[in-house]
Amino acid sequence: MNDAPVTLAMTGASGARYAVRLLQVLNDAKVPVSLIISDVGWRLLNEEMEIRDEAGLRKQTGDWSQVKMFADNDRGATPASGSAPSRGMVVCPCSMGTLASIAQGTTRSLIERAADVCLKERRKLILVPRETPYSSIHLENMLRLTNAGAVVLPASPGFYHRPESIDELIDFVVGRVVAQLGVDVRIGPRWSAGE
Ligand SMILES: Cc1cc2nc3c(=O)[nH]c(=O)nc-3n(C[C@H](O)[C@H](O)[C@H](O)COP(=O)(O)O)c2cc1C
Repeated sequence: MNDAPVTLAMTGASGARYAVRLLQVLNDAKVPVSLIISDVGWRLLNEEMEIRDEAGLRKQTGDWSQVKMFADNDRGATPASGSAPSRGMVVCPCSMGTLASIAQGTTRSLIERAADVCLKERRKLILVPRETPYSSIHLENMLRLTNAGAVVLPASPGFYHRPESIDELIDFVVGRVVAQLGVDVRIGPRWSAGE
């Protein structure tokens, strides 16, 4: 099952750099990726990183031989199918809008449908929200998703390893995501006794 792809969805929350680094790490680890980017996800890639299209994204994320892109409006694409092999899904960054839709099971886009399939098939679903502060609606949606089996992994890097760069902060969060996926790569700080 480890040859099965990870579905990586990028949505319209701030933090495009987390998503770009995550794709780069998965590509370096030769993990097959089914990639879906929402319209506002593209807008954030452009506004935060000047990545305007697939060519721009390829330039910053290494070897794409294992990446397949799907349009978010194609609700019949492979990640929409429960019978297609899958290693799970990450939504990074995850907007509160997409998070709410997944919590309600609306499946009005490929991203929402693929996440819904992960929940019904009891596969790993990791959501990386970025919003502050949270409303009670946001919090209730996160609790609902956690109770349904998703992992809510906020983009909240720690500081105990004394990061000196934005890259280190990003790797803190991306390291947690890949650890949840069970991908064996060493990025971000690791706990070790006596050091
Ligand atoms: C520049 C910009 C920044 C945004 N930042 C966030 C954010 O950090 N968190 C969030 O939940 N929504 C944010 N939004 C709002 C979402 O993009 C909006 O709810 C959108 O409908 C989400 O669509 P999507 O989930 O399909 O990408 C932002 C929107 C824009 C245009």
